[in-house]
Amino acid sequence: MNKQPIGLFDSGIGGTSIWKEVVKLLPNENTIYLADSKNAPYGEKTSEEIVALAIKNTEILISKGCKLIIVACNTATTNAISYLRKHYNVPFIGIEPAIKPAVLFSKTGAIGILATKGTLSSKLFEKTTKEYAKNSTTIEQEGTGLVPLIEAGKLNSQEITQLLEKYLKPMLIYNIDHLVLGCTHYPYLIPQIKKIVGKNVKIIDSGEAVAKQTKAILEKHCLNSEIKNSKPHKFYVNVDETVLRNILNNVSEDFVIESINF
Ligand code: SIN
Repeated sequence: MNKQPIGLFDSGIGGTSIWKEVVKLLPNENTIYLADSKNAPYGEKTSEEIVALAIKNTEILISKGCKLIIVACNTATTNAISYLRKHYNVPFIGIEPAIKPAVLFSKTGAIGILATKGTLSSKLFEKTTKEYAKNSTTIEQEGTGLVPLIEAGKLNSQEITQLLEKYLKPMLIYNIDHLVLGCTHYPYLIPQIKKIVGKNVKIIDSGEAVAKQTKAILEKHCLNSEIKNSKPHKFYVNVDETVLRNILNNVSEDFVIESINF
């Protein structure tokens, strides 16, 4: 039994799509979330830059006593998680694009993957695709420009719709029946994505699977809390907090946001 918090970090607000599932499944756990919006988007940075940002975020979370860290960002996971696991003595949970279930359940044998340049060009992504999708058609598409618009709170904007149409319509020509969202920001676009891809394409994100994996790892290391969490969840931001606050207001009353320089 351990009442230390779970730490999460992301290049901004996207990882809250993971955080929501974690607190839903694990109501006894307290969390600390770092929203590194100042450095978003990670997906356009070099692998070295992404590793450096992941180290900075990890060290803040460890200094705040986190018992386990969720790298709530696909780009940071695919580029930095092996380094983090090698150098820090806490368990890490990463977010990998859900290629395996998409391939497993695909009937057409064709799946679409929407992710950042940093994720699609990573070695871990290449390995995962080779391992699970070697007999499938995978249509990979960079979601350039989406993360800054989501960070700006422009979820229902014309700009988002235009980018999504440009990125997703060509995938439909290949008869995809699953679309993997390989960036934790993208679940906030699911209503708009559904309008473009239609009801025959199943949209897969990683939130629930990550929450289940977190539970399993906490239990394996005897790190889980057995008493209901009574403290507010803590969010640290390094830009204006309005967009994050609006997102959180829709899902929880039990949080505090603090602005710090990181
Ligand atoms: C980004 O900052 O470019 C997106 C983060 C992600 O891949 O989840």
